[in-house]
Amino acid sequence: MTEQASITIRPLAATDAEAYRAIRLAALAETPEAFGASLTEESARPLERFAERLTPPAPSLVFGAFTGSELVGTAGFLAGSSEKSRHRGTLWGVHVAPAARGRGTGEALVAAAIAQAKRHVVVLQARVVTTNRTARKLYERLGFRPYGIESKALCIDGAYFDEALLSLDFSEP
Ligand SMILES: CC(C)(COP(=O)(O)OP(=O)(O)OC[C@H]1O[C@@H](n2cnc3c(N)ncnc32)[C@H](O)[C@@H]1OP(=O)(O)O)[C@@H](O)C(=O)NCCC(=O)NCCS
Repeated sequence: MTEQASITIRPLAATDAEAYRAIRLAALAETPEAFGASLTEESARPLERFAERLTPPAPSLVFGAFTGSELVGTAGFLAGSSEKSRHRGTLWGVHVAPAARGRGTGEALVAAAIAQAKRHVVVLQARVVTTNRTARKLYERLGFRPYGIESKALCIDGAYFDEALLSLDFSEP
């Protein structure tokens, strides 16, 4: 568990599923272009699916940021599962509730996911919609570097969004 100012970061557990679902659905409603999943798909899932997502096989984890007992942000680390992809991981589901932004919560969450990734994989990958300057700056501040653009990566209500592909290679000095 790490603490930064009044923010506590810890891995989420199945018992956090209700709070996680609430913040996840709010995030999808607020910034649909920041996530691969849609609000319609996610809001149709039963609570058990959210609990399962919070208990992935090791070393994957979902981190939560708390102000007191309130869940105010999330960041996931998903390790590759096949023999040839186990050296790679993905950063996903990065989100901070609007009221908690601009005081290092996002950075603390992504740093926690990076620390977990560093212990288990060689490369951590992330993707960010090209218009999302805040997230892009945050990721690059923590060492991610761009390696490509996926054009029309997302289609939301008929509008296309390109995503920048980013990678953090722990084998590089
Ligand atoms: C991207 C996101 C996670 C950032 O969360 P956050 O908690 O605001 O992140 P941080 O506070 O660590 O950094 C944000 C800014 O606040 C600044 N900041 C951090 N601590 C600060 C402090 N104590 N005082 C003043 N500014 C501060 C950072 O320098 C940064 O500034 P910059 O954007 O000019 O680089 C958040 O904006 C979000 O959830 N957006 C919607 C979803 C999203 O885009 N997710 C990413 C998908 S790829």
